[in-house]
Amino acid sequence: MKYIVAVIQPDRVQEVLQILAEKEIHLVTVSQVMGRGRQKGIAEVYRSHKEVGSLLKKVKLEIAVNDEFASQTVEAITEGARTGHIGDGKIFVMNMEDCYRIRTGETGPVAIG
Ligand SMILES: Nc1ncnc2c1ncn2[C@@H]1O[C@H](COP(=O)(O)OP(=O)(O)OP(=O)(O)O)[C@@H](O)[C@H]1O
Ligand SMILES: [Mg+2]
Repeated sequence: MKYIVAVIQPDRVQEVLQILAEKEIHLVTVSQVMGRGRQKGIAEVYRSHKEVGSLLKKVKLEIAVNDEFASQTVEAITEGARTGHIGDGKIFVMNMEDCYRIRTGETGPVAIG
C-alpha cells in the first residue's frame, strides 16, 4: 500500500481529479496549503494570485492506494498538473503500513477503497 501526497497548482486540480477518475481513482483528500519550492516562492509569483511572504497558495492531494494503482496515480497527477513551468508541483510516495475503515473495522488493502 502506498500513500501518495502531491502538491500542485490550484488551477490544475480539476484536471488532475478528472484524469484520476478516468482511471477509477476516486478517493482523495484535498487541502488548500501554502508552500515554497526551490525558487523559495520568489520567481514563481507570476503564476500565483495569492502570496504571503515567500509562501504561495498550493493544493495538496493525498491518496492512499493499493500497490497496483500507485504508478497510474502518479501518472495521472503528472499528466494533469504538468505545464512545463516552474512550480508545477511535486509528488511524494510513501510506503503505507496500514489502513482502517472506522465504520466496519476492515483493515489493510480492503479498507483502502
Ligand atoms: N522538498 C520538499 N518538501 C516539502 N514540500 C515541498 C518540497 N518541494 C516542493 N514542495 C512543495 O511543493 C510545492 C511545489 O513545488 P515546486 O513545483 O515549486 O518544486 P521545485 O522543486 O521548486 O520544482 P520547480 O523547479 O519545477 O519549481 C512547493 O510550493 C511546496 O509546497
Ligand atoms: Mg519551484
